[in-house]
Amino acid sequence: MKHLIDPMDFSIEELEDLFQLAEEIVDREDDFRQVCANKILGTLFYEPSTRTRLSFEAAMIRLGGQVIGFSSSTSSSVMKGESIPDTVRTVGSYVDIIAMRHPKEGAPRYASKYSPVPLINAGDGGHQHPTQTLTDLFTIRKLKGKFSNLTIGLCGDLKFGRTVHSLIKAISRYENIKFILISPKELQIPQYIKIEILKQNNIPFMEVEKLEDVIHKLDILYMTRVQKERFFNEEDYIRLKDSYILNKEKLKLAKDDLSVLHPLPRVNEISYEVDEDPRACYFNQVKYGMYVRMALIIKLLGVM
Ligand code: NCD
Repeated sequence: MKHLIDPMDFSIEELEDLFQLAEEIVDREDDFRQVCANKILGTLFYEPSTRTRLSFEAAMIRLGGQVIGFSSSTSSSVMKGESIPDTVRTVGSYVDIIAMRHPKEGAPRYASKYSPVPLINAGDGGHQHPTQTLTDLFTIRKLKGKFSNLTIGLCGDLKFGRTVHSLIKAISRYENIKFILISPKELQIPQYIKIEILKQNNIPFMEVEKLEDVIHKLDILYMTRVQKERFFNEEDYIRLKDSYILNKEKLKLAKDDLSVLHPLPRVNEISYEVDEDPRACYFNQVKYGMYVRMALIIKLLGVM
């Protein structure tokens, strides 16, 4: 039985297979309407979510399956003190596949050891978010037609932003990827990503503080939200929250074929005026997230 806990759980070949299936679903969605008939997805969300949970639910429903679950730990027996293993064993006896989001790093991996059905990490604290990475990769594949020879700027909260950690891990496996890491000093990428992924694999990267200084070099600009919920004190959050605001002025400095991505939700880091720019791709990215989750459910359930 296969789980998806870490972005490296899928090899490059498995990813290619998954993306081809997602492409087929985009092109011929009608052919997939009954693929998961009689299957149930369980969504265990111990932390807020809009896109991840609803795109998983929409994905299962569009495949003919059904969904049960909770969207906040306050409405489950977690409030009575139930442990993760007991919750997962219980829900796993009702459903065929589980998507789980939890504020504690490592909780989905721990849960997967007890789960009788495939379990998907839908975000664990400030650690990893592998299905957002599938979404990001599928979007890049759609926009650029490749994963190699790209200069990728990651901008904002690189310390707590789990989507950034997962994307760096997964895309570092392709040829000639360069990263420009744009953040305030306090929100730089964690050491373990720098050492275990970037340095160990000789992947070129630079760390800068100003977006304007580097935007002209980028093929992809991945903006992120400052992760308010992971700060220890509010003063620091208020000081750092508007470190970057992408607007029309700054975009004038960028290449014509830049793609601006964002996992969303956005707060202030992309002005609404940018939405009209053809380089703004984040709402396509949202939609691709649903298709890639349809493909993921099919693969993990082994129904095709
Ligand atoms: C991200 C997350 O939850 O990590 N959102 C998402 O799943 N699309 C990014 C964020 O919350 O900033």
